[in-house]
This record gives sequence, structure tokens and C-alpha cells, in this order.
Amino acid sequence: MCEKNICKLLNIKYPIFQGAMAWVADASLASAVSNAGGLGIIGTGHDSSDIVALKIKEVQEKTNKPFGVNIMLLNPHVDEVVDVICQMNVKVVTTGAGSPGKYMAKFKAHGITVIPVVASVALAKKMAKDGADAIIIEGMEAGGHIGKLTTMALLPQVVDAVDIPVIAAGGIGDGRGMAAAYALGASGVQVGTRFVVAKESNAHPNFKQAILKAKDIDTVITGQITGHPVRVLRNKLTQTYLHIERQETGKENPDLSKLDALGKGALRRAVVEGDTKHGSMMAGQIAGLIHKEETCQEIIESYIRECQHVCQQQYQLWGNYL
Ligand SMILES: Cc1cc2nc3c(=O)[nH]c(=O)nc-3n(C[C@H](O)[C@H](O)[C@H](O)COP(=O)(O)O)c2cc1C
Repeated sequence: MCEKNICKLLNIKYPIFQGAMAWVADASLASAVSNAGGLGIIGTGHDSSDIVALKIKEVQEKTNKPFGVNIMLLNPHVDEVVDVICQMNVKVVTTGAGSPGKYMAKFKAHGITVIPVVASVALAKKMAKDGADAIIIEGMEAGGHIGKLTTMALLPQVVDAVDIPVIAAGGIGDGRGMAAAYALGASGVQVGTRFVVAKESNAHPNFKQAILKAKDIDTVITGQITGHPVRVLRNKLTQTYLHIERQETGKENPDLSKLDALGKGALRRAVVEGDTKHGSMMAGQIAGLIHKEETCQEIIESYIRECQHVCQQQYQLWGNYL
């Protein structure tokens, strides 16, 4: 029987991961989350191994608590990135865009816990078979690249299909969402959008403000036609992008070159430059629930407090029913 308690498995205080977020999940944010008792995770995207080494070093200077590194398996430098991670005493790796099966033996030899992010039952089963220690399922409510299923539908199906801990990501905006995830069998939650507006997040104030002002219906999905859908806040960029997508949809040979050009560097424009008109403001449907900038510690403690409160209320409601 594997260890289902994610806090014991990872030696962290609270079962809350800060999701990897390109340009956002840097050493400042990841170390603040880890110091607050969650699991901070640095994003590495297409980084070279030298850049990844610098990022890891910076987090290690800011915290002595466990933290994770997210590997994008389509990174052309992935082999060297894996080597650096193994050499630098990293304890947890999360992976996206494929199966880390090829690297599993190496990770295990270095005592690294491997947690792939998946969006379907079939992939979850494959990862468990390949030797993953836990799984993050991500519903299409999430900010960033998404799959097709919602967290509510996907989570219990994966929980039933695998015998390793399942972490829920996508639309977990507060302790009520966390309690719901636990009710569906989760062993922890991963949060993205809410950490973008954390005080320790270096995301541009314009981007943070856009999330704080967002309403429930303010995200859209771009990129369906490319096969890589992304959830972002609606703006001038998405208006243009979706217009071209509509024009090209149904064509035998759709011209995706204009979309490629629009998407190039778009996340950086939003996160680093604060361009809320022409930048890609990746954010989840839960943005409408986020109203203030708080420290990572305040965010994490509020999840735990609210989750405890909801569970106690539910116990009182259901405890004596039959
Ligand atoms: C701005 C932004 C950038 C993201 N970039 C990445 C990424 O580079 N790699 C990744 O695996 N997930 C990425 N994600 C997804 C998050 O890691 C996380 O799973 C997701 O945000 C959770 O859903 P939530 O936004 O509803 O909290 C990103 C999310 C956001 C909001």
C-alpha cells in the first residue's frame, strides 16, 4: 500500500502545491510557498539546464523546506535539465507534456518524488504504471494549457483508477474548493491563479489587477484549432486570436501562422511587461473569486481554515442523518 498522505510523502506541512507557472513561478514565489508550509514549484518551460540550475540555487538560498521543479518534457534541453535536477538535491519533480517514464529510474536513484500532471484517466493510469509516486489531475477550469474535462468529473474517476495519491488542480480557489476536492478523494490540491496575485509573486501589477477585477465569465479558451487550448482572460489579443480561429476553423488546410505570431512571447508580455491588451493573461475560471493580494502564508492558512470549517459544518449536517 503506497503512502497516500501527501504531507508525509513530501515532508511538507500543508497539502497545498503552488502550480508551476511560466514567468510567474520564480524563486520568490516558490520559496515563499514552501516557507509557508506548502510546496512551492518552479517553472522551467524551455529553459536551458544553466538557467534551471540558477533557479534551483536561488530557491535553495531562500528556503530549506522541500520545493519542486516542473519539467516540460517537450523542452529541447530536457535531458540536461533532468541531469541538473538530479545533481542539485531536488526532492520533488512535477512533469507536463508527456510521460517521464524514460527518466524514472534516474529520478528514483536520486530519491526524487515524481508527480506528473495529467488531464485524463488513461494518462493517469499510464503514469502510475510507469512508476509515478503521485498524480496531479488538472481540470479545464484551470488557467494556462488545459485538457477537456472538468476537475469535478475527472478527479473521482482518476482516484478510482489509480492507487497513488491524486492532487486536484483547476478551479480550487479557496478552502471550500479544497474540501470539495477532498470529498472527491483528493490527497492535496494545486493552486495557480490565486498565487499569481500573492504579494511575493513578481507578476506585473497590471496582470494582478486584471485577475482581481475579473468576473466569473471573463476567461476564454484560445487555441482549440491548434490542439493546444489555453485558458486566459479575455482582452484585445483573445478577440483577434479567436476571430482568426473562427475564420480558419473547418478549412482543409487552416493557416495557423498568424496565430503562431500572435502567441509568440504573449505570456511574457502580460506577466513581465504588464501589457493587459496584447499579452496572454493566463488565468483560471476561479479568478472571479479572488479579490485581494495576500502573502502566501495568508493564502495557505485561509485554505486550511476554510476547509476545516466546511468539513466541520458538513459533519454536523450529515453526521446524524441515518
Ligand atoms: C499564468 C499561468 C501560467 C501557467 N503556466 C504553467 C506552466 O508553465 N506549466 C504547467 O505545468 N502549468 C502551468 N499553469 C497551470 C498551473 O500550474 C496550475 O495547475 C493551474 O493554474 C491550477 O488551476 P487554477 O488556475 O484554477 O488554480 C499555469 C497557470 C497560470 C495561471
